[in-house]
Amino acid sequence: MEITNEILNKAAALAPVIRMLALGDGRGIVRFLGDVEARGNNVLTLSATDDETVKAEYAAFREKNGVPDSVFAESVGAFKLIDTSSRTGRLAGKITIVTGGAQGFGKGIAEAMTEEGAYVAIADMNYDGALKTASELNGAIAVRANVSDEQSVADMVRDTVLQYGGLDVFVNNAGIVRAGSLEEMTKANFELVTSVNYTAYFLCVKYASAVMKIQRRIAPEKLFDIIEINSKSGLAGSNKNFAYAGSKFGGIGLTQSFAMELAPYGIKVNAVCPGNFLEGPLWTDPERGLLVQYLKAGKVPGAKTTADVLKFYESKVPLGRGCRTYDVARAIFYICEQDYETGQAVPVTGGQEMLN
Ligand SMILES: NC(=O)c1ccc[n+]([C@@H]2O[C@H](COP(=O)([O-])OP(=O)(O)OC[C@H]3O[C@@H](n4cnc5c(N)ncnc54)[C@H](O)[C@@H]3O)[C@@H](O)[C@H]2O)c1
Repeated sequence: MEITNEILNKAAALAPVIRMLALGDGRGIVRFLGDVEARGNNVLTLSATDDETVKAEYAAFREKNGVPDSVFAESVGAFKLIDTSSRTGRLAGKITIVTGGAQGFGKGIAEAMTEEGAYVAIADMNYDGALKTASELNGAIAVRANVSDEQSVADMVRDTVLQYGGLDVFVNNAGIVRAGSLEEMTKANFELVTSVNYTAYFLCVKYASAVMKIQRRIAPEKLFDIIEINSKSGLAGSNKNFAYAGSKFGGIGLTQSFAMELAPYGIKVNAVCPGNFLEGPLWTDPERGLLVQYLKAGKVPGAKTTADVLKFYESKVPLGRGCRTYDVARAIFYICEQDYETGQAVPVTGGQEMLN
């Protein structure tokens, strides 16, 4: 049987149902194997793929034969149930996607989440970078994604679900900066920033929440997380950087609105607003880094070198240093562990931005 798009869609709709049923048995990953014979000692063969049939046949099989190793569904294919009970930490066994995970904050977030027991899909348009990061992290996978392209976002979520069987935490991290004054900013650059930082957040939430809704149908007590890596520039304007600040302010509006819409499905939606990651590649890249961009844009009066720009930004932080990836990761852990918070924007700025 040829593996068509339709079959892959069916498999991606069924895998989270199977995973939610198998989770209590320590089988935290459900991998779609395609149109192959299900292997293993204990194969559950489903007669249909609707929720009620799958639930009833899983329960009946388990009672008679114990936990299945694999599940086979006619006209879909085989799924392998993988034991993840040895995974420990604050995010033990959680399935996550981190967009823009090949470098910078996203890479650090992916590392920290893996250390806390999560399975991370590193989704990036820099696929080689994503592969490299994934190869360094226990259980991680790389997924090709351009978050401003709807089909690519749909594929990113589906690919992750076919490999892991679900999605518990979605980290919307991919983002870009094109700084410049009103005289300098072109419409093309303004729209580029908007498409990656703002429109893509909508696209990602559309497809990520669809998987979480399936999971919630089967496990109504479970909560899931969507976390936008926003910025302190989403809380206060940014001089000669309005394209970025506007996209991030918009992100807070989306976060609050998604939080309202998705609360009935057990999906919390929050933003983390980091201060400047002054040691990260976005700032330090010698050609396109912000230190260079801001020097050229004259954002720091009197600055003659990138070192002057760096010093200026450090001096603006009450706690005296730039934001680091573990600062952001800690905010993510807090959000995931907190069952009673949604629609919030958590500043992680060393005191540079304080909420009223
Ligand atoms: N660096 C900072 O000072 C800072 C401060 C506050 C917030 N943030 C936010 O943190 C997030 C990450 O920033 P960073 O500094 O790590 O950036 P970065 O440039 O170091 O990394 C961004 C990653 O996103 C990927 N990416 C870019 N466009 C993409 C697209 N269309 N589809 C898929 N992947 C794409 C890139 O390939 C790259 O791997 C962004 O949302 C940014 O706005 C950064």
